[in-house]
Amino acid sequence: MRVPLVAANWKMNGSAASIDQLLGAIAAGVEGIQSEVVVCPPFVFLAQVQEAIRNGAMLLGVQNINANPGGAFTGEVSTEMVAEFGCRFAIVGHSERRSYYGESDAVVAEKFKACLSANLTPILCVGETLEERDEEMTEQVVSRQLEAVLNAVGIDGFRQALIAYEPIWAIGTGVSATAAQAEEVHRVIRGQLSAKDSEVAEQIRILYGGSVKAANAAELFGQENVDGALVGGASLDAEEFTDICRSAG
Ligand code: 13P
Repeated sequence: MRVPLVAANWKMNGSAASIDQLLGAIAAGVEGIQSEVVVCPPFVFLAQVQEAIRNGAMLLGVQNINANPGGAFTGEVSTEMVAEFGCRFAIVGHSERRSYYGESDAVVAEKFKACLSANLTPILCVGETLEERDEEMTEQVVSRQLEAVLNAVGIDGFRQALIAYEPIWAIGTGVSATAAQAEEVHRVIRGQLSAKDSEVAEQIRILYGGSVKAANAAELFGQENVDGALVGGASLDAEEFTDICRSAG
């Protein structure tokens, strides 16, 4: 049985003042639910969020990490550093990082590997552009992105990991994939892992991301292979996000 997980990706949003308010409201709203709830703030707010969620069930994650253990990498943050703040998860390969900061499949694989070494659970993002979907290349693109990481860490590297299917055309557009579209790709992802190890494939949680809202969450979570969500915009609204978490169970 896979425990659902809902992760908030705040992206580059929030302020010292807004965060405490948001977290307070979310904590009250998700009390007692079975699903895991992860918050991924910008790095500068890690200490504040760690303190704010100290007595609750919410877990801490980051939106990105550098794969190197330390050294002359101006402006970057390592896995060891975020682990010091009680961070348990790291998003790797988000499409915004792939497209705005040129992160290749190889770089994403290195980051995934670095997470495993530091005992951080990577949340590997995969997903196709609208053009790729229109050309019926979705399966090929997602499989390539997954294979690059499988080649780097092997199937055992996925024992302590999550995958987030985030079709780029659905991110921040208000147009979510339909539950059927999400389920179709999630099944392909699980199948690709299953060909290597069926036990790993069965236990790994595959999240859906892209315009998840309170209004569409329940239908998405009703799919056999959708084990939660990675939420952007709606995670900045306590009521919306709480409703999404509650729909996950
Ligand atoms: P939205 O929920 O704003 O579409 O963003 C999804 C996302 O990119 C989460 O990582």
